[in-house]
Formats: sequence, C-alpha cells, structure tokens
Amino acid sequence: MSKPLRIGVAGLGTVGVGVVKILADRREFLSAASGRTVELVAVSSRDEKKDRGIDLKGVRWEKDARALANADDIDVVVEVIGGSEGIAREVVEQALSNGKHVVTANKALIARHGIALARVAEQRGVALNYEAAVAGGIPIIKALREGLAANEITSVTGILNGTCNYILTEMEKTGRDFGDVLIDAQALGYAEADPAFDVGGVDAAHKLAILASLAFGREVSFENVEIEGITQITAADFKFAKDFGYKIKLLGIATLGVDGIEQRVHPTLVPEGSPLGAVSGVFNAVAIEGDRVGLLVLEGRGAGEGPTASAVVSDLVDIARGLVMPPFIVPTSHLKPPAKASPSKSKSAYYLRFSAVDRAGSMAEITRALADANVSIERIVQRGEGKETASGRMPVVFLTHETEEGSMRKALIHLENHKEVAGTPLVIRIEKSGSR
Ligand code: NAP
Ligand code: HSE
Repeated sequence: MSKPLRIGVAGLGTVGVGVVKILADRREFLSAASGRTVELVAVSSRDEKKDRGIDLKGVRWEKDARALANADDIDVVVEVIGGSEGIAREVVEQALSNGKHVVTANKALIARHGIALARVAEQRGVALNYEAAVAGGIPIIKALREGLAANEITSVTGILNGTCNYILTEMEKTGRDFGDVLIDAQALGYAEADPAFDVGGVDAAHKLAILASLAFGREVSFENVEIEGITQITAADFKFAKDFGYKIKLLGIATLGVDGIEQRVHPTLVPEGSPLGAVSGVFNAVAIEGDRVGLLVLEGRGAGEGPTASAVVSDLVDIARGLVMPPFIVPTSHLKPPAKASPSKSKSAYYLRFSAVDRAGSMAEITRALADANVSIERIVQRGEGKETASGRMPVVFLTHETEEGSMRKALIHLENHKEVAGTPLVIRIEKSGSR
C-alpha cells in the first residue's frame, strides 16, 4: 500500500463535522478503494471547546486555520469554512501555493476566484476539487467532466438551492409564512451563514456560474448572472400557480446562444408533472442537454451534513487514487473569455400578478398597457374570494403568450403610468418545457 494521504480540515460546522464522521466510519472502505489510508491529521475551527459530537482524539487542533496550509505533514486541505474572501480564501491560496491539494465546498470562493485559484493549482500540479460546491450530494461536476465529455452542452437548468426549494415546498404545502419556514431551513443546516445569499438567489447564481463555465468551456462569470430571489412570492401565488397546473421553483438557467451565454436565476413557474416541477424539499436537480446524449436529469439532496460531506469525501478519494485533473475540466489556458448574451432577446411566457383596484375600466387600462408593448395575453384570473381587501384591491393574474424580455420590460414601463390602478406587478417567468 502507498503512503497514507494526510488530511487537514479547516472548519468544523455542518459540512466539516460530516467529513470527519465519514473519514472515521468508512475508513476501511476508503483505504481499500484508494489503495492507501486516508488519515485525518489536523483540524481547525474557531471554538476548541464546542462539543461537535465527533471524536478528535489523536487529531491535532490548529488555532489558526492557515497553519494547515503550511504544515509539512498535510497533503490535502479541506476548506469548509465558507466565504469568498478572508480566511477561507487565504487558506486555499496558501495551500495551493505550497503544493497541497485542496478540496472545498465553497461555491462563493470558486465562483469569484476559481479561475485564479485553478491557475495556481495547475502550476503546482495539484488538485482543486469542489464537487460539494454545486448541488450538494449530486455528482454533477463528475458527470460533466467524465460521463458527458463526448457532448457539446447547450443548456443547464437547475434547482440549485436547497434552502429555497425547501421554503417554497413548505410554503406551498402548509401555507406558512416565508420567514417562519426559513428558520426551519437554518436549523436543519441547509442555509448559508448569511441566508440572504440563499433567498436572494446569490447562492444559486454562484453555482450556476460554476456549472456554466464547466458546461460551455468559458471562464466563470458570476457578474454576468441575472439574479432575482424568492422573497416576493406569497401564499396567493402558490394558489394561482396550482390552478394553472404549475409549481413555483427557483431555477438557475444557463444557455448557449449565438452571441454568448445567458445565465439567469429567478423564480419560475414549471409544469407540475415535469422533472423539475416534481422536485421538492431540500432536493436539487440539474437538467443538462447535450448534443449526443439528449436530456439528462440528475436529482438528489442539495444541502445538509450527509450529502455535502459525501461529495467532499468523493473528491478526497479521487486525490487518494492519484487523479489530478484541471479544475475546470480543460486547462484554464483553453477556457474562452466570458461573453454575455443579450437578455432583451430572450423569450418566455410570463405570470403577472397585480393588486388591481376593483372598479370598471381598471382591467382595460392594464390590458392596454400590455398591448401597447406588444405583449399578448393568454389568460386572466381575478380572485378576491368574494371580498375586497381593506385597500379596495383585488389580486389579478395574467398569463402571457411567449414574448421577448425587451417587450416585457417595455410593458412594465407602461404599467408605471397605471400604478394607481395596477400596483407594482410581480413578474415570474414560465418555463413550459418538460425539462424545466
Ligand atoms: P457552518 O456550519 O457555518 O460552519 C463553518 C465553520 O467554519 C464553523 O465550524 C466555524 O467555526 C468555522 N470557522 C469560521 N471562521 C473560522 C476561522 N476564522 N478559522 C477557522 N474556522 C472558522 O458552515 P457549513 O454549512 O458547514 O458550510 C461550510 C462551507 O460549505 C461553506 O462554503 C458553504 O457554502 C458550503 N456548503 C454548505 C452546505 C450545507 O448544506 N451546509 C452545502 C454545500 C456547501 P466554529 O464552529 O468553531 O464557530
Ligand atoms: N445554502 C445552500 C443551499 C447549501 O441551501 O442549497 C448548499 O449549497
């Protein structure tokens, strides 16, 4: 058997604890699968006294996580602290510069600095693996790198944030408030340290930017992702969506267009029985379209201790087996620069919810504003459950036919002039395709 692979873990929160448990519980299997023992040598976290329910006997405690990146007896640093800057970035940069492999679950770091870090990893001939950073337990990066290598990928669509999918599913099922359900998701260990990243769509955007880079062979361009979160969705929207046969999901969508890559994260109406419409709770799913394979959908738990640590350990096994691959599938010198497709040409049907004044002519004013922007209406539903609200307004929903984003933007500008009548509309895209 070869020399042991010596691991240092930086961060002992939800994911770090999960990794330590798997390394202990699966010790024998991991050595047999990789031909060498995989040994936890040292750990670092903020609070040495905290009871984490793990046995750290014989494992060195480093007060400063940077010590792991500099220690002679460590081959791989597992960074599970989080954050795109500060200590996490320093530990990873230092470890790679020192010629140590790095495994991380940190999508914020990879989305913002992944290319620069990959260049260092390539120069030093070490691995920078981040399977856990995208879609938790789903081996999506391995799928793109290995199983789908024969394909030109044309689109990637995913439910990429477990917290949001959990919140949307619970709100729909129970009619509970958004804030109430978010507290549950935090307690279950799904949410980011700053949950605004989850519900604001930023976490999904980090993951989408990474996937788009891997799928389309471009440098990661997080700045080019159009982002919208789920905080505007209300219980009424779930009822309307259900009547129309839709679910509401936060989707990340990346497509290859003629003038560049389109990357968007936003709440979306998807058909109830479609592959992504059927994904509930903390589950994530990624639908990939390849020119040879056609449509492929992978589904699994997208957050939490077990699924995320499972992905981290799979990266460790690759390293233990001696697999060191370019972090972005092809060497960074082969990646094309990012190019953003023009969003105004992007086409979609839309769900528009207004809080309209319930009087003769108000509907005519709204439909005129839409018609003037060339937006064609498919259905209109007004529902007040028989009573007006205190403000004398009624929720009204329009479904539009497919229209260019530019026309929809124009319609929203026209509607500004009818704010007194229509209120500020909530706009949600509709994806009618079965894959979405
Ligand atoms: P977490 O539960 O908040 O854990 C973070 C850990 O980092 C804590 O143990 C904390 O120490 C430690 N830490 C903070 N500052 C430190 C410092 N200066 N030096 C050393 N340790 C420090 O976070 P998590 O959920 O495990 O997430 C970790 C990473 O995995 C993040 O990048 C996250 O985005 C990613 N991720 C998480 C999930 C998930 O489901 N949770 C899924 C996929 C990816 P103390 O415990 O001592 O305070
Ligand atoms: N906060 C993230 C989520 C963790 O809810 O999906 C997994 O990346």
